[in-house]
Amino acid sequence: HRTAVILVAAGSGTRLGYGIPKALVPLAGRSLLEHALDGLATGCPDARVIVVLPEGNAELEGICSRHRSRPVTCTGGATRNDSVRAGLARLEPGTEFVLVHDAARALTPPAVFERVADALSAGAEAVIPVLPVIDTIKSVQPASAGIGEGIVSSTVDRAVLRAVQTPQGFNAASLAAAHAAVSSWKPERAEKVTDDAMLMEMNGITVFTVHGSALGLKVTTKMDLLLAEALVANGYE
Ligand code: C5P
Repeated sequence: HRTAVILVAAGSGTRLGYGIPKALVPLAGRSLLEHALDGLATGCPDARVIVVLPEGNAELEGICSRHRSRPVTCTGGATRNDSVRAGLARLEPGTEFVLVHDAARALTPPAVFERVADALSAGAEAVIPVLPVIDTIKSVQPASAGIGEGIVSSTVDRAVLRAVQTPQGFNAASLAAAHAAVSSWKPERAEKVTDDAMLMEMNGITVFTVHGSALGLKVTTKMDLLLAEALVANGYE
């Protein structure tokens, strides 16, 4: 396999309030993990799939073993970074490209995987799917006057901002090297790394962008799940 996809699905999903791992949460009668696997299997049909799961969950293991993408599975860690690193440890030698995808973005359309893979084939060392930002975004700092929640320090120019999604695509060796370095960082520093592309930026690697999809929303809250249900019910899958 020239390409691997690491699907990180080891999160607890506490913000959804289900009391089960988020990847098992049902969306239109099937787990978020199954939806995510379907999209990546269609978008990257020739890739080796590595699914990172919470420790000892037979139900999630079963979903993987039955899926047409024939994924290998491994156990994740305490943070998303740890889980990505666990997936990277399962790369086959000689893997050229790796895509890292959140299982929580269960409805990401195959076309987004294709755009990311195409950019890698065209020579990008790092590529992320993005969307324009709809809201005006302000930088806020704490204030002690007892009014509200803080004061505005500046308004960021919205035209240059993008909201970032997954799958994020990388040269496999570059990403593995960057993650190996993070494992020796202090937790306070490692916690500031909120996506894989940030590691590439820190190493001076150019990160390219391709168009994402509104369907690639990260299912984090109950409201996101309601929206995802409505999208599937209306044929957006
Ligand atoms: O927690 P967050 O919403 O940032 O999670 C994004 C993705 O990372 C989810 O798909 C989740 O399953 C995964 N994750 C993981 N291991 C962790 C934390 C999150 O695989 N320890």
